[in-house]
Amino acid sequence: VSSSASGKSALTFMEQNAEMTTQLEVPAGYQAQVLLKWGEPLWANGPAFDPTQQTAEKQQQQFGFNNDFIGFLPLPLGSQNSEHGLLVVNHEYSISASMWPGSPADTALDKAQTDTDIVAHGLSVVEIQFQNGQWQQLKDSAYTRRITPLTPMQLSGPAAGSPRLKTAISADGVHTLGTYGNCAGGVTPWGTVLTGEENIDAMFAGDYSQSAERETLQRFGMQAKAQKSWAQHYPRWDLSQQPNEALHVGWIVEIDPYNPQSTPKKRTLLGRFKHEGANVFINADGRVVAYMGDDQKFEYLYKFVSSGRYQPDHRAANLDLLDSGTLHCARFDADGTVDWLPLQFGQGPLTAANGFHSQADVLIDCRKAADLLGATPMDRPEDVEVNPANGAVYVMLTKNADRTEAQRHPVNPRANNTAGQIVELVPPKGDHSQPSFAWDLFLLAGRRDDPSSSYHPATGADSWIACPDNCAFDSKGHIWVTSDGAEDFGIAEGVWASAVSGPDRALMRRFLRSPVGSEVCGPFFTPDDKHFFCSIQHPGDGSSFEQPSTRWPDFDATLPPRPAVVVINRPDGKVVGS
Ligand code: FEO
Ligand code: CA
Ligand code: CA
Ligand code: CA
Repeated sequence: VSSSASGKSALTFMEQNAEMTTQLEVPAGYQAQVLLKWGEPLWANGPAFDPTQQTAEKQQQQFGFNNDFIGFLPLPLGSQNSEHGLLVVNHEYSISASMWPGSPADTALDKAQTDTDIVAHGLSVVEIQFQNGQWQQLKDSAYTRRITPLTPMQLSGPAAGSPRLKTAISADGVHTLGTYGNCAGGVTPWGTVLTGEENIDAMFAGDYSQSAERETLQRFGMQAKAQKSWAQHYPRWDLSQQPNEALHVGWIVEIDPYNPQSTPKKRTLLGRFKHEGANVFINADGRVVAYMGDDQKFEYLYKFVSSGRYQPDHRAANLDLLDSGTLHCARFDADGTVDWLPLQFGQGPLTAANGFHSQADVLIDCRKAADLLGATPMDRPEDVEVNPANGAVYVMLTKNADRTEAQRHPVNPRANNTAGQIVELVPPKGDHSQPSFAWDLFLLAGRRDDPSSSYHPATGADSWIACPDNCAFDSKGHIWVTSDGAEDFGIAEGVWASAVSGPDRALMRRFLRSPVGSEVCGPFFTPDDKHFFCSIQHPGDGSSFEQPSTRWPDFDATLPPRPAVVVINRPDGKVVGS
């Protein structure tokens, strides 16, 4: 399906070289427009960006830091319009050394700086339009919204109202405030966005050794030592005072960007772990299937199957589909099958004997439940997405240098895995609700001349990839993959594309080179494949505010490098990839 009539891939763009530079580079015949940058006002009367005069009040009205996931949702709702829509963007985390003059440590921010830092997280919703060959943000739009760690939200699904979720900010265990650590995500067919709360442990600090939640917090990697300043200024993030607050994060949050007044909902049935993101697929019988990765070394892959069915003509009926159904974790077997094991309270080991007293407990302690079921520890599951052209599922496994020889497994076959791999899952007869799928290794990434890598032999000398992180599919079914860690191999981070079947399967081609210190996230196509959005996150990472390794995208000596959303297209109007 991913190939043209000749059987060859339809990808014909001129491949980029692999050199690390201060610039972003796209192939000849393409243009890259910087659309949204950290600190730019999102409203017409919003405060201009001035990194020497930052306040929380200003940041609340400006584009946040470290853009990650991007979703394009056409306007009007339900259309396939590729030239007018909403862009929903995650702001995953902050880097104080890049944001503040003097490059303070993340733990050294005073209260006013911390307040600014907090609202640099979350998401931005903007309305954009393509006119006269350029995209622009409509700054008088009623859809414009900043969602932050302070935005009122609700917990929904089986864990909502659990006594363990009753905290100082939530007397009922249902109401909560905000989202942060938002990494990747997905757009649902009913026009909402799912955003994954990933490294939320970084915001917390404090001694929790006396807490009843000690085991749960430990399993999530919570540390007493501060990594950020939030806990110094707010008891909400101090584990010695409010340990249960940490159970309010680590969820998938569903946001309806078409309704700016809507309250985001944390879908507890999708489990609590370090969510990379969630991608939804409508099964042939109408049930909703969501695939998710827990992005940490030796963590697991998950699948949710709804009880209810998607109703294309009844949006309101779809809005709570993620509140009933079954969550599963994945066990990979050497015979090429992967079994989906239900995380159901009362079944197998998920009983009071192991500390589970309700489905809420299973979901809050999802990692522990999956441990007990014997899920397969993976090499950092990042994006997991269904290819709409062939119905197979693709899992980005970014790397895991801690895997030992003894821990090698057919689906995670390399010890000291610094380069990652992409796994392909095939549901039987295309039915995603089935309890067993077939699996195969699509690509073992890394140096092309590394005998443990597995490229199509025609892959170019500069087109090998390392550390696959996010992915997207164009409507022909080509896979587009971004990297997070290629620089460790001496090559630029970027975007690569390949066919998934036919004679050009796993023939990787490098499409984009990203500026030094960055990673590329959130790739997303418009429905007509003519526009490709991507996030350039943490350009110049590891260098200081005053002496950065790149000043992309402004190249202004008075400004630090800024994370930004880029949109790439062809002035001749042909699809991206051609
Ligand atoms: Fe935030 Fe899994 O990368
Ligand atoms: Ca990621
Ligand atoms: Ca994706
Ligand atoms: Ca990553």
